[in-house]
Amino acid sequence: MQFAERVKQLPPYLFVGISRAIAEKKKQGIDVISFGIGDPDIPTPYTVIEELKKSSEISANHRYPETEGLPEYRASVAKFYKNRFGVDLDPESQIINLIGAKEGIAHAPLCFIDPGDIAICPNPAYPVYEIGTMFAGGECHMVNLEESKNYLLDPADIPSDIAKKAKILWINYPNNPTGACADISYFENIINFCKQYDIALLHDACYTEVTFDGYIAPSILEVDGAMDICMEFHSLSKTANMTGWRVGTAVGNTEMINALMRVKSNIDSGLPQAIQQMGISAFNLSKDWLFHNNEIYRKRRDKIVNVLNSIGVKTSTPKAGLYIWTPIPDGFTSAEFATKLLEEVNVVVTPGNGYGSAGEGYIRLSLTIPDDQIDEGLNRLSKFRINS
Ligand SMILES: Cc1ncc(COP(=O)(O)O)c(C=O)c1O
Repeated sequence: MQFAERVKQLPPYLFVGISRAIAEKKKQGIDVISFGIGDPDIPTPYTVIEELKKSSEISANHRYPETEGLPEYRASVAKFYKNRFGVDLDPESQIINLIGAKEGIAHAPLCFIDPGDIAICPNPAYPVYEIGTMFAGGECHMVNLEESKNYLLDPADIPSDIAKKAKILWINYPNNPTGACADISYFENIINFCKQYDIALLHDACYTEVTFDGYIAPSILEVDGAMDICMEFHSLSKTANMTGWRVGTAVGNTEMINALMRVKSNIDSGLPQAIQQMGISAFNLSKDWLFHNNEIYRKRRDKIVNVLNSIGVKTSTPKAGLYIWTPIPDGFTSAEFATKLLEEVNVVVTPGNGYGSAGEGYIRLSLTIPDDQIDEGLNRLSKFRINS
C-alpha cells in the first residue's frame, strides 16, 4: 500500500505529544494539570441544549440537510452580523453554514488554490490554514507575526513577487495563539494590499466574541469594500461553549461563498438540522450571557498572568481569546521550557513552536480548564523556579 504525499507530509497532531506526556505521568500515579488544549470546560447554555431536545424530535430534521444551511440558520447569522457589527448580509448568497469553522477553513483553499499556487499564511497560526493549502496542492508563504508589530501580519513583509503570485491571504484576529487584536484601520490596510494584488482575503474571526475589559472586536466586513474580496469565518465553539456541536459559518463575498458551497456540496452533506437549530438559539444568546461567560475567562486570565509574572515569566494581558501567549526566559527552547514545567511541577503548557517556527521562544496557556484546576495549576507554577 502506498499513501499519498499529502499524508506523509502531515505533521503529527500538535496535542499528541502532550497527551502522551500526560498519559505517561498518569501511569506513574501523578496527576497533571494541563493548560494545553483550548476547549471550553463550561457547558453549552441550557437554552441551547433545550433547543436540541425539541428539534431532535422533529422528523424533518432526521433527513439530509442542505449544504448551505437552513434559511432560518442563515437568517440568524445575518441578524447577528447586523446587530453585532452593523454589517448587512444577504442570507441567500452571502452566508453558508459550516461543520465547525475548521471544516470551512480546511476546505476554503480548494476554492482558490491549484497545484503550485501560493497562499500567504501567518506564522505562528492555527495550523489548518497551512494544511488546507497543502491538501489543495498549494504552497504557503509564511509571514512571521512579530511581537514588536503587535503580532499583526504586515504586508510590507511580503515580497512583491510573492504577492503577485498569491491567490489567498489568511489572517485571524483576535488571534490564536498570540491573543493579538486588529482594528479597523489595520483591516483597511490589508484589504487595500489584497486588492492591489488581486488576492482573496480570508479572515478567521472565531474569537470576536471572547473579549475582555470592554474591548469589542470588529468584523473585517465592517470596512467599506471588504465585501469585494473577503470571506470571514465565525464559530460558536468558543463564543457559546459549543466545540462538541460543530457549528460555524462563513460569510462575505457572494462568489467566494458560492465557491465554498459548491466545494462542500461535493464533500459533506451539511450540518444536522437539529444542530443548526441549536446554532440559531446560540446566535440569540443575550449580551448579558456573553458577558458573564467571558468574565469567567477574564478572572482566570488575570490569575494566570499574575502568577507567571511573579515567577519571572514576563507576561502581558490579552484583551481577547482564550489563551495566554508569553515569551519564555532566555536559555530555553519552547519545548525545553514546557518539559521543565512538566517534569518539575507537573503542569502542561503548549510549546509555541507547535504553531509554527515563529512560535519558538513562546509558550501558550489555555483558559479553558475548571477553576479548581486553574488554582491547583497556579499553586504548582508559583513554586516553579526558572533557574533550579
Ligand atoms: C483560530 C481558530 N480558528 C478556528 C478554530 C476552529 O473552530 P471550530 O471549533 O469552529 O472548528 C479554532 C479552534 O481552536 C481556532 O483556534
